[in-house]
Amino acid sequence: MYTQAMDVGPKEERKAVRSTEEAQLETRFEARIDDGAFIEAKDWMPEHYRKTLVRQISQHAHSEIVGMLPEGNWITRAPTLKRKAILLAKVQDEGGHGLYLYAAAETLGTSRDQMIAALHSGRAKYSSIFNYPTLSWADIGVIGWLVDGAAIMNQVPLTRCSYAPYARAMVRICREESFHQRQGFDALLVMMKEGTDAQRALVQDAVDRWWWPSLMMFGPPDSASTHSTQNMRWGIKRISNDELRQKFVDATVEQAKVLGVTMPDPLLKWNEARGHYDYGPIDWDEFWQVVGGFGPCNKERLAARVKAWDDGAWVREAAMAHARKRAAKEQAA
Ligand SMILES: [Fe+2]
Ligand SMILES: [Fe+2]
Repeated sequence: MYTQAMDVGPKEERKAVRSTEEAQLETRFEARIDDGAFIEAKDWMPEHYRKTLVRQISQHAHSEIVGMLPEGNWITRAPTLKRKAILLAKVQDEGGHGLYLYAAAETLGTSRDQMIAALHSGRAKYSSIFNYPTLSWADIGVIGWLVDGAAIMNQVPLTRCSYAPYARAMVRICREESFHQRQGFDALLVMMKEGTDAQRALVQDAVDRWWWPSLMMFGPPDSASTHSTQNMRWGIKRISNDELRQKFVDATVEQAKVLGVTMPDPLLKWNEARGHYDYGPIDWDEFWQVVGGFGPCNKERLAARVKAWDDGAWVREAAMAHARKRAAKEQAA
């Protein structure tokens, strides 16, 4: 490309200079990451790091608010006032998680409107688990136990993510997730120990349906995960998908014994040599189907989100009008 470089205009020259500068900034950035330093919103960061984080944090935010829908389905049908109050608080927490995370993503220069538009158009993804239906009250307990349990496994390492605003949001989120997991386990324990045979059968049925999708929450196997290596290098991800999945299996199989339920996996077996449970093959075709928009509830979930956004337009407009009026008043004073 030497011949082209001979007649570069001022713009190209500037570009060349900038890229040397950028290379230095990138070296400094990598060194800071290697030292275990946290990156703040005002710090320089490579464009790819910024984009990766926007994608990950916004997907995470979308998962929190779409995740309100399957459980919201049971608020009016909770069996007791106590369970209803707990479920209301939990679903409200998930809405709050969405808000912290949208705010964290906004520090990277993307707007809430842009992120919401990406979700509503189907360009942005959310966790595939929320495209499954909640068929009985036992599903609510199983979601708390397994889905929030898997979320905790995934999210605790994110409290050490190299991007500080994300890491800070995760500290608070993880505290609330652990309450979510415990309330789910507690609801199931009551059904299993004090319930009728029919109630115990509902719990087992819910476990049968949610077990495999909850294992899929950790994402594709390490051998097929496209973003993992770079994300590990940058300290966005600290522990691999398969390692986290294994930790989750080891923890939940023991909890299943306490509950008295069985996992729907004939190959699930303690492996003395590995010091871990072995488990059967995961149906990745099903995972990709659901991620691709063809799960049991994808259309319903997205339609519910779009409707909520449209129905809430007057609230956003009123809030903006109020803010404008206040600003005008302050200026006049
Ligand atoms: Fe959450
Ligand atoms: Fe949760």
